[in-house]
Amino acid sequence: MNLSVQLAPKHKTGLRLVNPVMTAAGTFGYGTEYSHIFDIQKLGAIVCKGTTLEPREGNPQPRLAETASGLINSIGLQNIGVKALIKEKAPLWASWRVPVIVNIAGETVDDYAQLASELDGVAGISGIEVNISCPNIKAGGAEFGANSESAAKVTAAVKSATSLPILVKLTPNTGDIIKIAVAVAEAGADAISLINTVRGMAIDITTRRPLLGNTTGGLSGPAIKPIALAMVYAVAGAVELPVIGCGGITTGSDAIEFIMAGASAIQVGTASFNNPRAPLDVLEGIEQFMEKEGIEDIAELIGAARG
Ligand SMILES: Cc1cc2nc3c(=O)[nH]c(=O)nc-3n(C[C@H](O)[C@H](O)[C@H](O)COP(=O)(O)O)c2cc1C
Repeated sequence: MNLSVQLAPKHKTGLRLVNPVMTAAGTFGYGTEYSHIFDIQKLGAIVCKGTTLEPREGNPQPRLAETASGLINSIGLQNIGVKALIKEKAPLWASWRVPVIVNIAGETVDDYAQLASELDGVAGISGIEVNISCPNIKAGGAEFGANSESAAKVTAAVKSATSLPILVKLTPNTGDIIKIAVAVAEAGADAISLINTVRGMAIDITTRRPLLGNTTGGLSGPAIKPIALAMVYAVAGAVELPVIGCGGITTGSDAIEFIMAGASAIQVGTASFNNPRAPLDVLEGIEQFMEKEGIEDIAELIGAARG
């Protein structure tokens, strides 16, 4: 069976994955945290924790709230910063077979451009995923991803600062996701990933206060799967670029739904918190489905649900 997919067909080196299963940013650390649990080299790609120019402590506690079929988080991009990532993580990634994609976030267009140029040419880094969608940062992500002009500006700035393939990750917290997808495609994205978390909140009725330290957070997990699927279906019909589906994927069947909606690859996020083997289970589920249905190439399934 052929499960390989090309995520950057217009890019000079391309970004070929041996299979379509990726991890979602912020839910799989730097990959190293999971390498003793299963053979992470079997995955299509690893997307690491969101990375900023300077190290960040993140938002005040509490930062996680469980909901029916989901999780609300307001981590606030806690991370070690790009310099430590290049020094401490990339050398290890360079010895891995599985490509690592670095997820980046900034508060200004220049932050994004600087991050992209610092990551350019670093051994062990195969691509950049641009988070224009984090709902947790007051003066940053949310604004870029909610507006087509600013989304395009960030995309163009990253594109001109790096020779790496770039994926741009969209937010569902916007009025017209298609307009934004088209704008980032025109601005030079190699692929589009979606969705990031859906803005939400919870209230502690005993203290009569918002449960999260940051008041609101981002909802993820099975609760958002139908929203993500509809958005992937819409965006895949509007752009020529490869689309990467994300949102509530827990099983191989979930992944196949996204692929049939038009996704060339998928990301497993919150599911890894319940089951650290989830990305591998999703991959095995896809393989079993293909075997059962007599499908030899994953390409036969991409967009199969589209008219
Ligand atoms: C704890 C946590 C941290 C996250 N951190 C990031 C991040 O740093 N950058 C980013 O682009 N998305 C981040 N996300 C969003 C996920 O990558 C993913 O888009 C979202 O959770 C939906 O997928 P899921 O339902 O499979 O988790 C985070 C999600 C969670 C739950």
